[in-house]
Amino acid sequence: MVALCARSDVVCETQFYFMKGVLQKADLLKKIKRLKREKNAVILAHSYQRPEIHEVADFIGDSLGLCIEASNTNADIIVFCGVNFMAESAAILNPGKKVLIPHRDAGCAMADMIDPEGLKNLKKKHPDAKVVTYVNSSAEIKALSDVCCTSSNAVEVVKAMPGNKIIFVPDKNLAAYVASKVPEKEIIPWDGFCPAHHFVTKEMLDDVRRNSADAKIIAHPESRKDVLEESDYVASTSSMINCAKKDPAKEFFVLTECGMTERLRSELPSKKFTGLCNLCFDMKKNTLESVCVALEKEKEVVEVEKQVSEKAMKAFEKMFSLTR
Ligand code: 13P
Ligand code: SF4
Repeated sequence: MVALCARSDVVCETQFYFMKGVLQKADLLKKIKRLKREKNAVILAHSYQRPEIHEVADFIGDSLGLCIEASNTNADIIVFCGVNFMAESAAILNPGKKVLIPHRDAGCAMADMIDPEGLKNLKKKHPDAKVVTYVNSSAEIKALSDVCCTSSNAVEVVKAMPGNKIIFVPDKNLAAYVASKVPEKEIIPWDGFCPAHHFVTKEMLDDVRRNSADAKIIAHPESRKDVLEESDYVASTSSMINCAKKDPAKEFFVLTECGMTERLRSELPSKKFTGLCNLCFDMKKNTLESVCVALEKEKEVVEVEKQVSEKAMKAFEKMFSLTR
């Protein structure tokens, strides 16, 4: 017989039974589904999240899809299974709603590569440039920007922005990809990158391709320029599924965070997917247990300071107005 600690703010029922080894995956899945119903909560999960989190998610997708879902939901609570900047975006798009992130320390190495002071200085150096900010950034950075973009609409947004000079932050690889697609504009990149994508090189790709000449290559635009030049498709995580569905090829190399390869395998079991990939450890910090605890305790709440949130919202609204 186990006794439950009365201090539910310290250890809740889920944590207690999980630590005791009594709570199994099936119990957690059941409990999460019940809590969602009782609390009118919705679970939004990024493609890179663990497969067992996808099992309880109401929506799985890329950053753009998640932004749209977050702005359309009628739920009272949004449990955001992704990293901090994504949960912040959900909070910005839903003032007044409770947004929870299961693991408070789920950060983003690329988002941390830029700071507001640095961006202010770059803006001073190029006062005539418009600032296009990839959503993989903090709310403060978005608040200093003219418009946001995601990996799936970056080219469209830059094309649609007035003027010929664009400061593009924080991903230099996505900036280079955009520059190759919009040569009529000058793109001033920030020197950031995503380690999960940046450290997959062309040499690594050449190496794995030697024995599978017919395999198609699908790469995320956060990858290096020379890798993208070798790829058959450059796509956001959600678009990768459509590319693989439509292409008659039976074999694909997938160049993005490893979770996406698993997702492709489960969506399209008749095709072969090989990940040329690194893990994003921050994306993997959320677990089924922490999702359950987040719902039970209604923690960790993600809040964005009102002034910052209002300015960042304008950058989101601009993105939606240019692309919808
Ligand atoms: P998308 O979801 O837009 O494809 O971006 C991938 C990513 O790196 C998110 O952190
Ligand atoms: Fe950030 Fe890269 Fe992880 Fe995405 S995959 S959250 S860009 S570090």
